[in-house]
Amino acid sequence: MADRAVYRAFQFGLGIFGLTALLGLANATRIFGALSTDTLLTHLHSGTLGWITMGVIGVTIWMFAGAGGTLSRNVLITGVVTALYVLAFWSGNFPARAVTGTLELLAILYWWWWAGSQAMREGFGHIDVPKLSVVLGLTILTIGAIVGVTVQLFLALGLTLPTSPDLIGTHASAQVGGYLVLVSAGIAEWRLSGPGGRSMAGLAQAWILFLGGLLLAMGVGMNIQPLEGIATLFQVIGIVIIAARFGMKALRTPWGQATGIRHIAISVPFLVLGLILEITFLAQIIQAQGDFTKVSVGLNHALDHSFFVGVMTNSLFGAILLATSSAGGARVWPWADDVIFWGLNLGAASFIAVLLTVGSGYAAGPFQHPVAYTASVMGLSALLGIVTFSLRLGAARRSTAV
Ligand code: HEM
Ligand code: HEM
Repeated sequence: MADRAVYRAFQFGLGIFGLTALLGLANATRIFGALSTDTLLTHLHSGTLGWITMGVIGVTIWMFAGAGGTLSRNVLITGVVTALYVLAFWSGNFPARAVTGTLELLAILYWWWWAGSQAMREGFGHIDVPKLSVVLGLTILTIGAIVGVTVQLFLALGLTLPTSPDLIGTHASAQVGGYLVLVSAGIAEWRLSGPGGRSMAGLAQAWILFLGGLLLAMGVGMNIQPLEGIATLFQVIGIVIIAARFGMKALRTPWGQATGIRHIAISVPFLVLGLILEITFLAQIIQAQGDFTKVSVGLNHALDHSFFVGVMTNSLFGAILLATSSAGGARVWPWADDVIFWGLNLGAASFIAVLLTVGSGYAAGPFQHPVAYTASVMGLSALLGIVTFSLRLGAARRSTAV
């Protein structure tokens, strides 16, 4: 059974994800017209920090069997800091973004240190591949966050951002191509194959994906094509090892059974799709000689949601379902599980397909673009998941308190 700190991290994550999903619905349907840049950045970072990173913190504590009041208090502080940072994005106030972004970085440094010291206690020569993947993923998250805060400081001081290195490109590619790839591979292996695995192929997978993520961030930042090529090669090797090691286990999942495992299993094909889209995106950037205005917006957003929803939301919904069912007690709204699983995934798949074939819905009016319907299925299913799982987490936390 997981500690209360784990439930608390998931609860904060789901709460902030509510904002992400509502803004996503507004963006999809356009009922309030086009969203401002500040609002889009709020949609983005409420999702990546508020939802994904709070959830990853919960998984990390659970994986390393962390427990106790101090951890639970630190989850609370991190949750509050993250909510403030998300609101600072929405305010569009650069000094507020710089101050709260720095606090967010300190929180991330703490969790990186915590996971690293747990790994050291067990010994880096002994920890299994899922734990190694999470520690390496958190390392890239920390590097990406340092670059992100640097951008905030430039903006707050009114300085022009350098074009080389392109700090925002470095930040985004490290976080998505490094942090999320490693952490999601770690979660999938942990739950599909079980903990304890430490084969040579597994170690190679984790280190290759780590180097691939770092080289990608450097290659995109400095616009060095050979580096981007090597990074891509590393990522392809990493994903082939994943497919060989637990791809079949993912595909053989009992899809009809309403447990967390099917959510985790489906994150693996979405990870493969995400990496294919990332490589296609990279090829377009190289073809456009680094000019982002010439790159397909639909492809960019398809890539984003493969990772943010297809991979990470599934991994975390799966982890929450497993954590709440292992806590025992009544399962609130049992009917919701199928609606959430199929709605989220058919919604995400059709949303991605529309973005790739029809393109971004940004130029369209209210309900004029197919994105309005496909993304709404995904967003409403996510909202149902948020409410259902929050109720179940509340019950699980109360039962652990007893
Ligand atoms: C302490 C943590 C973080 C900080 C300080 C931070 C900061 C920033 C800043 C300043 C920007 C540029 C905003 C602008 O255009 O004005 C940005 C963009 C972005 N961030 Fe973050 N961020 C953080 C965490 C994350 C995480 C965890 C992810 C993904 C998992 C992420 C993904 C992105 C992406 C995809 C962009 C958009 C790049 C583009 O415009 O193409 N960020 N972030
Ligand atoms: C972790 C969760 C999520 C993250 C990190 C995320 C991130 C993003 C990003 C980075 C963009 C591009 C914004 C820009 O133009 O600068 C975007 C666009 C969009 N998002 Fe999300 N998103 C998430 C979840 C959702 C959900 C649940 C919905 C459901 C309604 C949604 C709907 C949309 C729509 C409709 C667009 C515009 C796509 C287009 O027409 O091109 N997102 N999101």
